[in-house]
Amino acid sequence: MKNFDCTIPTRIIFGEDGEKRVGELVKEYGFHKVLIHYGGGSVKRSGLLELVENSLKEAGIQYVELGGVQANPVLSLVREGIELCRKEQVDLILAVGGGSVLDSSKAIGDGGGNPESDVWNFFIGKDVPKGHIPVAAILTLSASGSEMSQSAVLTNEETGLKRGFNSPTHQPLFSICNPKLTYTVSKFQTGCGTVDIMMHTLERYFGWSKDSAITDRIAEGLLKAVIEAGRVADQNPEDYEARATLMWAGSLSHNGLTGLGREFLMQVHQLEHELSGMYPRIAHGAGLSALWASWARYVCPVWPERFAQYAVRVWNVEMDFENPLATALAGISATEEFFRSLGMPISLEELEAEPERFEEMAEKCTNFGKRTLAGIRKLDKQEMIEIYQLAYPRR
Ligand code: NZQ
Ligand code: ZN
Repeated sequence: MKNFDCTIPTRIIFGEDGEKRVGELVKEYGFHKVLIHYGGGSVKRSGLLELVENSLKEAGIQYVELGGVQANPVLSLVREGIELCRKEQVDLILAVGGGSVLDSSKAIGDGGGNPESDVWNFFIGKDVPKGHIPVAAILTLSASGSEMSQSAVLTNEETGLKRGFNSPTHQPLFSICNPKLTYTVSKFQTGCGTVDIMMHTLERYFGWSKDSAITDRIAEGLLKAVIEAGRVADQNPEDYEARATLMWAGSLSHNGLTGLGREFLMQVHQLEHELSGMYPRIAHGAGLSALWASWARYVCPVWPERFAQYAVRVWNVEMDFENPLATALAGISATEEFFRSLGMPISLEELEAEPERFEEMAEKCTNFGKRTLAGIRKLDKQEMIEIYQLAYPRR
């Protein structure tokens, strides 16, 4: 097990009706003025926004609102939010939505706490925030894990660059997680979420470390539970236990727990961010689903035993001791079949990505020639292009 440094300070209020406590919670922390940040309208349709407004009013908390966060959130709305926070002297940002709303809120918090800096510079590694406006959340979609993570992912729509930025300033103060709020999530977004939750653990599982038995077992247990719950939620969106499993797994899968003591490099996420950065209509989970198996087949010959362990323990594939690579490949195919069974794409062709743009995507992924992607197999630009090409044909 590698050394690690672990703090997960987000308070999680998990279960039914938690959202009704939001006013009381904001008051408990002593905040005065809240920016309620939300997306394209699902929280209006469900009545959640009105409930939040009433809860804040009852607690005597003032608020302003900014909606319109799009899936794969963009810099221009973040700038608008920063300006609003400054004008209205907001002291807490309340994200009501999925990962996109959370990440947009985190970026507004960075910008709002650093009036002298350009918020995009944080996302391209040119500056670090010295202060921030804190963020709290009411989660409506189980997927990104942003409700308990230090990450935020933002797209600069002028350049098409989608960049992730990790910072302690992004750790939400508290997140209200009521599985019932996810009953209205579409079949497609439920599938995307199931894939993303699995990916956050798989990316850690396939990082280097000689040994990490406890982390392996936590990761494998989480994956098995998510596969089962993903199947059930796909068929019955109002199954509370399945929705609850996905919601809690989403938080655990990206708060660091399932990778403690292992290297964590997220190659597939880096490849995917270039895809949904270039094509913002592509949902993050769908991009991951289309790329993962091709990435896995490409890198698994460097460590077939690890992929074979995954196949045996998570997918109950029988171990072929003469040929661990065959076992490894069977586990990858089982994963791909599962994604397919949820209606997720397993090729870039299904997502209508254009092969003639793979070179540009790989160039962006190298940060314009400044990096290779570290991982169990290091990837340079040509190798990234090869993975995009392998992922292209419809299967
Ligand atoms: O905008 P509204 O109308 O709310 O609709 C959303 C959106 O269209 C809808 N939705 C959300 N909750 C719903 C609902 N529809 C019905 N009922 C509900 N209860 O779902 C759609 C997708 O929402 P979005 O927030 O974009 O999805 P997700 O949570 O998957 O977030 C995706 C973003 O998170 C980033 C991704 O790159 C992408 O930009 N990620 C963030 C991470 C992090 N901060 O830690 C890690 C991830 O790896 C990921 O990269
Ligand atoms: Zn993800």
